[in-house]
Amino acid sequence: IKKITTHQLQEMKVRGEKISMLTAYDYSMAGIVDKAGIDVILVGDSASNVMAGHETTLPITLDQMIYHATSVVKAVDRALVVVDIPFGSYQGNSSEALRSAIRIMKEAGAHAIKMEGGEEIKDSVTRILSAGVPVMGHLGLTPQSIFKFGTYTVRAKEEAEAEKLIKDAKLLESYGCFSIVLEKIPASLARKVAKEVAIPIIGIGAGPDVDGQVLVVHDMLGITHEFKPRFLRQYADLNAVISGAVTNYIRDVKASDFPNEKESYK
Ligand code: KIV
Ligand code: NA
Repeated sequence: IKKITTHQLQEMKVRGEKISMLTAYDYSMAGIVDKAGIDVILVGDSASNVMAGHETTLPITLDQMIYHATSVVKAVDRALVVVDIPFGSYQGNSSEALRSAIRIMKEAGAHAIKMEGGEEIKDSVTRILSAGVPVMGHLGLTPQSIFKFGTYTVRAKEEAEAEKLIKDAKLLESYGCFSIVLEKIPASLARKVAKEVAIPIIGIGAGPDVDGQVLVVHDMLGITHEFKPRFLRQYADLNAVISGAVTNYIRDVKASDFPNEKESYK
């Protein structure tokens, strides 16, 4: 199997071939997603919500991200594995940022990291890049800053924030980032960014005119049930499938129907 590289993603943008990306946090799911042919797997800090049950992405630790990433990397033969560097492990101190990035690469065997922010994290981004670690940017609704925003609504609807986002995207490109995620911004702005920067732009709630799309795998599979933002397309109702199977199992156990003779040892 030919492995996906950051260079191939760049070539896909040039060719106009869309990039597919999904999150995964564990070995079993990552194996399914990789074998289905996804281009990029993101070990997102959305694990904080989806795996650990926290309300925001802020509580998840570097050690916990490395645990998830290690499990994912073991299952993956083809996809590029990108790992979120968590809140508190890179902002403000570039040597701590580099140490965190190196731990993710070394201990988990990740292929790249993803960082939230633009100009304000310049020192950390450039230091990590100069160590040879590929960095994916993340602009727009950056969930690690949710307490600054105060709301999960669409970002960069106003002129000033839109202009800063375009400027940040160009800066991240000039630093040497290989790609940028744009989250929950107007489609017209995302389209403009994808046109004006040469690196692949991956959207989530950023409309169709970007170079690829990412979703949280539990959301698109319908495991997380309550979360239904406009940008989400649900491809399965696994919540109902799992709940139905569990209900049937309980029924069979209670009725002494399971296990039967064939399911027992002589
Ligand atoms: O953590 C995550 O799942 C993400 C994607 C939504 C881009 O950062
Ligand atoms: Na994230």
